[in-house]
Amino acid sequence: MPGDNNINTTQTGERPGRLVGKIAVITGGAAGMGRTTSLAFAREGASVAILDIQKEAGEDVARLIRENGGIAEFIETDVSDARQVDTAFDKVIEVFGSYNVLFNHAGTITVKPLHESTEEDYDRLMDINVRSAFLVCRRAVKEMSDNGGGSIVITASIASELGYALESLYCMTKGAVLQLARSISAEYRDQGIRCNAVCPGFVKTAHGLREISELDIAGQAWEEGALAEAQGRICEPEEVSSAVVFLASEEASFITGNALYVDNGWYAKG
Ligand SMILES: NC(=O)c1ccc[n+]([C@@H]2O[C@H](COP(=O)([O-])OP(=O)(O)OC[C@H]3O[C@@H](n4cnc5c(N)ncnc54)[C@H](O)[C@@H]3O)[C@@H](O)[C@H]2O)c1
Repeated sequence: MPGDNNINTTQTGERPGRLVGKIAVITGGAAGMGRTTSLAFAREGASVAILDIQKEAGEDVARLIRENGGIAEFIETDVSDARQVDTAFDKVIEVFGSYNVLFNHAGTITVKPLHESTEEDYDRLMDINVRSAFLVCRRAVKEMSDNGGGSIVITASIASELGYALESLYCMTKGAVLQLARSISAEYRDQGIRCNAVCPGFVKTAHGLREISELDIAGQAWEEGALAEAQGRICEPEEVSSAVVFLASEEASFITGNALYVDNGWYAKG
């Protein structure tokens, strides 16, 4: 922070957690990058509310956090359903009183040629990736504004701004959520809300590994070297979580409306 010359802020010399005092809501926090971010947030001192459709996995993450001295609550939620989102946020308020961090992460992918994609494919992907972000962020910007602000991080993708064969629907949805992040930053800055997006390349999660495998089956060659050419190696989910922790924390206090590419330079070289 400006004017802070203290390099040793605890009596024991330990670095204090970067999210101490924060209350974070994480959608899609039961698995993949959502899971590693739930754990990273808790490690940095945040209390964590995990919203996900996967009950067992979500409860496991919350239990793991509590067993390690943290505070966490799992709330089974389909974030594409307006009623479930509102019920879940009511529960967050009931348990934690308020919240000042949102990681809007839940999402999925369809790998298919555009001309074979159905309206059902379109509706499903728009519901899970875009409607969910609308429902969750609509609720969060109001409550964060009323409570003095906060930080929102939305998981976009390298596919938010670049186009990829067999991923037209997915690219549409990820472009939409990146624009949502930028729009929130413009609309709510003066209410104390920062909003940024993380844009990963391929990440080693169920989502990323299925995507690589389905693209390869469809004739692309990611496993045979295209991935190494694009981004050097596959990204570990923790490497995305580090970026999310930074954006959620006060260390990013003057950063809003940004797309942070976590892709080892893929986007930069095109
Ligand atoms: N893995 C990658 O390579 C990659 C790259 C760029 C962006 N992304 C983005 O990351 C997200 C996928 O996350 P991941 O890679 O950690 O994969 P993942 O599949 O392991 O995790 C996704 C999580 O979202 C949850 N989820 C899905 N639909 C939901 C719903 N309707 N309501 C509540 N929770 C729901 C799942 O249960 C799961 O826990 C998507 O937003 C995707 O666009 C992934």
